[in-house]
Amino acid sequence: MMNALELHNVSKTFKAGKNEVVALDGLSLDMQQGKILALLGPNGSGKTTTVRASCGLLTPDSGQVKVLGKDISKYKSQVLKDIGVLLEPGKGIFQNMTVMENIEYWGLLKGIQDRRQLESKGNELTEFFDLEDKRSTLANALSTGMRQKLSLCCTLVTDPKIILLDEPNVGMDVEASLDLVKRLRWLAREKGCAILVTSHQMDFMEDLCDEAAFISNGRLILRGSIEEVRWMFQQQNYKFTFRLPESDDFDPYARLSGIQSFKTDLPNNMAELIVDSNSTSMNELMKFALDELLEVVALEVVRPSLKECYQMLFAEGVVTNDNH
Ligand SMILES: Nc1ncnc2c1ncn2[C@@H]1O[C@H](COP(=O)(O)OP(=O)(O)OP(=O)(O)O)[C@@H](O)[C@H]1O
Ligand SMILES: [Mg+2]
Repeated sequence: MMNALELHNVSKTFKAGKNEVVALDGLSLDMQQGKILALLGPNGSGKTTTVRASCGLLTPDSGQVKVLGKDISKYKSQVLKDIGVLLEPGKGIFQNMTVMENIEYWGLLKGIQDRRQLESKGNELTEFFDLEDKRSTLANALSTGMRQKLSLCCTLVTDPKIILLDEPNVGMDVEASLDLVKRLRWLAREKGCAILVTSHQMDFMEDLCDEAAFISNGRLILRGSIEEVRWMFQQQNYKFTFRLPESDDFDPYARLSGIQSFKTDLPNNMAELIVDSNSTSMNELMKFALDELLEVVALEVVRPSLKECYQMLFAEGVVTNDNH
């Protein structure tokens, strides 16, 4: 299948006075239709620059960007219709226009001429993002989260095949953020959209994305499905749930090594012990349970979350981000 978006060896250096900042350093990345890719990395690692280069807002110094197989530098106006992009909060929103006017205006700019089509798309999107009673409200009278939702409506008005979202859930409440995950997953699954997302909120990203690409100093350092990334790290814990013995001298710390946490404040006298599998084997854990005559409720293997993977990857000394 043809890739929705391909970056080949893309480099971009910014000059600020005498200083030069290498924002992208030979970055190659591809995105498939129907998949949601998380672009992850610390502040200044090049995520926004990647998004801007991918939709033609910024021309790289070298390298190539292809959208649905076409070189973006040669077919710019043609490919731009296929891309919906969301940049910094509030960017591209006209403050003195209403919600519907903003959405319809974006549709017109992107080449939708049929007013009825624009209106029904605007109605559908405002309904989805819970803005239906704000349709005739001026953009400058919206709250931060609502303005972000309006930006998303503008991004999606043309039914783009490729969607690039730079920190889309900034300022959104929990429910709006969950709705956004649902909408984007639906667009990927049902419409085959390829979606690239950046965010520093790892829980949101783990819920939303199929794959993750980690970048540092404008270079790709790790790429894989979220599950692959979680299996790549040797760090693995056992979570052991049991009924807490009555005896006062019960002390797992005296018997087991690598205890990450020991919680005894759970309901029904339950206790939860998390141990590092590199320090204590499953057999040792079971022997401990037998010796102590524990009433075991559950024993699970726990892989690191995306957030923990991120922390391990960017922990000091593993990879550096030395732009700053
Ligand atoms: N227009 C510009 N002029 C000069 N330097 C820039 C410009 N845009 C980006 N940079 C620099 O390029 C580097 C990458 O910036 P970029 O905005 O892509 O990072 P980011 O990964 O999006 O960071 P954040 O997580 O903070 O949003 C940074 O060092 C930044 O200062
Ligand atoms: Mg950014």
